This record gives sequence, structure tokens and C-alpha cells, in this order.
Amino acid sequence: MKSVLITGASSGIGKALVEHYVAEGYQVYAAGRNAQKLAQIFDGQPRITQLVFDVTQLAQIKAAAEQVDQLEHLILNAGDCEYLDDVMAFDSQQFARIIQVNLLSVGYCLEAFLPKVIGLGRIGIVSSSATILPFPKAQAYGASKAGLDYLAHSLSIDLAQHHIGVSLIQPGFVDTPLTDKNDFAMPWRISSKQAAKAIFKGMEAGKHHIRFPFLLIFSLRLLALLPFSWWRALITRNTQK
Ligand SMILES: NC(=O)c1ccc[n+]([C@@H]2O[C@H](COP(=O)([O-])OP(=O)(O)OC[C@H]3O[C@@H](n4cnc5c(N)ncnc54)[C@H](OP(=O)(O)O)[C@@H]3O)[C@@H](O)[C@H]2O)c1
Repeated sequence: MKSVLITGASSGIGKALVEHYVAEGYQVYAAGRNAQKLAQIFDGQPRITQLVFDVTQLAQIKAAAEQVDQLEHLILNAGDCEYLDDVMAFDSQQFARIIQVNLLSVGYCLEAFLPKVIGLGRIGIVSSSATILPFPKAQAYGASKAGLDYLAHSLSIDLAQHHIGVSLIQPGFVDTPLTDKNDFAMPWRISSKQAAKAIFKGMEAGKHHIRFPFLLIFSLRLLALLPFSWWRALITRNTQK
């Protein structure tokens, strides 16, 4: 039976991915940092193995890796988003926290789980469509996800000789607890179920880029063709009082 490990399995996109992969016949390692939350969601499901670790704690991740046999797919999805409220009072602690949970954590998980990924296997790295264009207050989140973009591209080059594929996953707005906190318009927001379906399909097809929903990605990529000063003027006019 094919197997997949998914981080951030206790909520949102990760939880929907676990459900989708199980429905598609995979053996799923559902990873989260809160054992109680995982048990509440996944207890009693024989095709799901719960793994408990905090993605910022390398020792915990390595201990969990001992329970993992081999993997066809590894989806590094856990992450968080915090916006910097006052750029003039730049909070380096907050900046470091987001870089650690979104970017450094992926390095820790690669160290622990990459050796488990079999030839012809695939790694999915969940970045964001926010990296297509810079947004206000997103210095920490955007920088962490832009780091993931580079990491995924570069990994893809070096892992090709090992016959391991890499998918860079850039979701638009998905309806999850993470976006429930947002107080701005989120055009073309889709459900976590739709996001999981798109990610599964892209991973199975061996796509390097998995981006959705189409209309949001298309609009962002079009706007990204503008000179940066035009984009800065446009986004400033629309977001600052
Ligand atoms: N929703 C969107 O519109 C959107 C768009 C683009 C990209 N993304 C990305 O998609 C991924 C999933 O986001 P989501 O929207 O599904 O958010 P979510 O519902 O808040 O889920 C985030 C998941 O990450 C886990 N997590 C956070 N910090 C962790 C840590 N230190 N150790 C272990 N697990 C940790 C959370 O665990 P707990 O349940 O224990 O908190 C949760 O399972 C994130 O990387 C996010 O940046 C989301």
C-alpha cells in the first residue's frame, strides 16, 4: 500500500489532505503537535498512524521518524501566519517565530524524513500564492514562503538524480482557521476539501507547480508583470488609509 506523511494534519488543509489520501487508498502518517487533537480526529481509523511532534523541534521529529517505514509522498504543510502590525516597530521575535515554523521546520523535516522517501516518490512543500507578489504586513510570512519556493526549486534539481520529485504548492485563499483570522477580502476562497483534491491531483500527476484556484493565480501573475513601482502604488492606495 502506498504511504504518505502529512504535517499540520490536525487542521485545515492538512486534515483535508489526510481524509483525501485515505479515501484514495493510501496509508497515512498524520503528523501534528497536539496528541489529544490528533486522537480526537483520527482515533479508530486503521489506515492512519498518528505522529506527534512540533515541527520546530528537531529531536522530536527524529524520534517520530523512527516509527516511519517508507514513504511515497511527503507533504510538508504545517505552518502559521502572523502579520506585522507596525513596520516601524519591527518585531524581530515575531519575524523569527514565523521563519522558524514555516521555513526552518521544513529543513528539520527533510533531515528526518527525506531518507524515507523511495525512488519515484515525491515531496510536496506548501508555500503560498502570496510569493507571487509582495503584500503589506506580510514581511515575515512572505519571506518564509519565498524561502520555501527557492528551497523547492533547488531541491528539485538535486533530487532528480535520486528519482525523487518535488512539488511546490502555492494555494490561494483556503477556508481554514488560519484565514478565519483575516479581516480583509479574500477573493476566490475555496474549501479545504477542494484544496486537498487539487494537491492530490497535482502530486499524482508529478507536477512541479501546484497552484490554485486558477482565477486568483492568473490575476496575481498578470499583476506581477507590472513594474514594481506600479504594483506598490496600487496596493498602497488600496490598503492604506
Ligand atoms: N489557508 C490558506 O488560505 C493558505 C493559503 C496559502 C498557504 N497556506 C499554507 O497552508 C498550510 C496549512 O495552513 P491551513 O490554512 O490549513 O492552516 P491551519 O488550519 O491553521 O493549520 C495549520 C496546521 O499547522 C500546524 N502547526 C502549526 N505550527 C506547528 C508546529 N510548531 N508544529 C507542528 N504543527 C504545527 C497546526 O497544528 P495545531 O492544530 O496544533 O495548531 C495545524 O495542524 C500552511 O503552511 C499555510 O501557510 C494556507
